[in-house]
Amino acid sequence: MTTTPTSPTERAAHARHGYSSTQIAVHWLVAALVIVNWLLGDGMSDVFRAVEEGQAVNNIGPAYIHIAIGVTVLLLMLFRLMARIRRPVQTDPDDPHRILAVLGAINHWAFYALLILIPVGGAIAWFGRSEEAGDLHELLVNVTLVLVLIHVAAALFHQFVLRDGLIRRMLRPTGGT
Ligand code: HEM
Ligand code: HEM
Repeated sequence: MTTTPTSPTERAAHARHGYSSTQIAVHWLVAALVIVNWLLGDGMSDVFRAVEEGQAVNNIGPAYIHIAIGVTVLLLMLFRLMARIRRPVQTDPDDPHRILAVLGAINHWAFYALLILIPVGGAIAWFGRSEEAGDLHELLVNVTLVLVLIHVAAALFHQFVLRDGLIRRMLRPTGGT
């Protein structure tokens, strides 16, 4: 029978050098969903403006898809956050590029915060008819896109300049589900 680690010492003992198959699957699923929702964003803004101005909306379908995908991202991120806290990922104390590992960790935790706040902000905008929440939603999406560019550039830098095979961590599970 497996037990869930509860104390910080137990969690450290369970820490791994990589990610489980579920964490990897959810990582790529969320990445794809965020990109699709970003592409649907313009249509969502048009519908939101029309609804706010009391005009007729010709095609509300994409707006509902945007909301459904956004709520799915929120649920997946909450699930992922719990998995990450219960099973920390180990960093190598002798890593010669320790500063990069720290910057990477900051970027990763920023993704968790942003991808929870973005759907919550979008929901407040849509259900509360709040333009301010809509503006914040857009701002946070733009910040996320900049971080995604940095994240991808960092992954490519590891792959082709440092040649340390970091991308493998998000392709090959290291045991467990
Ligand atoms: C990961 C999840 C999400 C992403 C990446 C995302 C992305 C976007 C983008 C790119 C825009 C257009 C911004 C622009 O035109 O500059 C937008 C607008 C909007 N989204 Fe989302 N969205 C997400 C989740 C949600 C959810 C869950 C809701 C509602 C329940 C929502 C409601 C809205 C609304 C109301 C607007 C219009 C805001 C305005 O024009 O002021 N979004 N979203
Ligand atoms: C919207 C797009 C993306 C988001 C939000 C995102 C988010 C994240 C997060 C939060 C982590 C930390 C792992 C965890 O806690 O689960 C991570 C790790 C990772 N991501 Fe992404 N990611 C995205 C796209 C990509 C892309 C396109 C690539 C490849 C080019 C990539 C490569 C990696 C790698 C290699 C790691 C492992 C890094 C390490 O363990 O130090 N990601 N990503």
